[in-house]
Amino acid sequence: MITLNDVKQNEKVALLISKADEFLGIIGYTEHGERHSSLASNIAYNIMIRLGKGEKRAQLAAIAAYLHDIGNVINRDYHAQTASIIAMNILDEIGMEYSDIIEVIAAIGNHDEKDGSPISDICAAVILADKSDVHQSRVRNPEFIKTDIHDRVNWAAKSSFLRVDEVKKKVILEIKIDTSVSSVMEYFEIFLSRMVVCRRAAEFLGLKFELEINGYKLL
Ligand SMILES: [Fe+2]
Ligand SMILES: [Fe+2]
Repeated sequence: MITLNDVKQNEKVALLISKADEFLGIIGYTEHGERHSSLASNIAYNIMIRLGKGEKRAQLAAIAAYLHDIGNVINRDYHAQTASIIAMNILDEIGMEYSDIIEVIAAIGNHDEKDGSPISDICAAVILADKSDVHQSRVRNPEFIKTDIHDRVNWAAKSSFLRVDEVKKKVILEIKIDTSVSSVMEYFEIFLSRMVVCRRAAEFLGLKFELEINGYKLL
């Protein structure tokens, strides 16, 4: 079985993640590098394990989450779909079973809220893991928080945690925002479409999605 570790050791993968992040930095996007990839893959893996999906599918979700943003080396537009094509080549080279490759690339190609939908449990886990990453450490230059709403909201986010409650059948995104930096309203302004896709991903997994900001249940 090909695991996340095998993928992480691949030199092409390391280069793709660092270059995708570098190019996104040039066009003003927040951090999308090793930190975001690793975090998303840990969260996706944990969601799958918590829901009893088993080690194999959890590894596939972890791999999909790790590779989900590599398409940004080509262009921000359609980066989910281009990431799938690049991942397909690499996973084939590494020796992954073709049926597993299909699961991974379907999840990657559907991770973006603009043009994707949860089409499998693996994909739903990747979506939840990706969209829950809002954090201060994603801001590249704190100077930009004055002018850029994405930087401001991320800078204001002191912590974010995705809690899976498999007994109550809920997934709760718990965020702590410093409201002296950015208002909760601003969070919704840029993240409403993400929250909608999170709700759909949670529903795919048979869970209810809840959003809690500074201890208040907002969704
Ligand atoms: Fe993405
Ligand atoms: Fe992402």
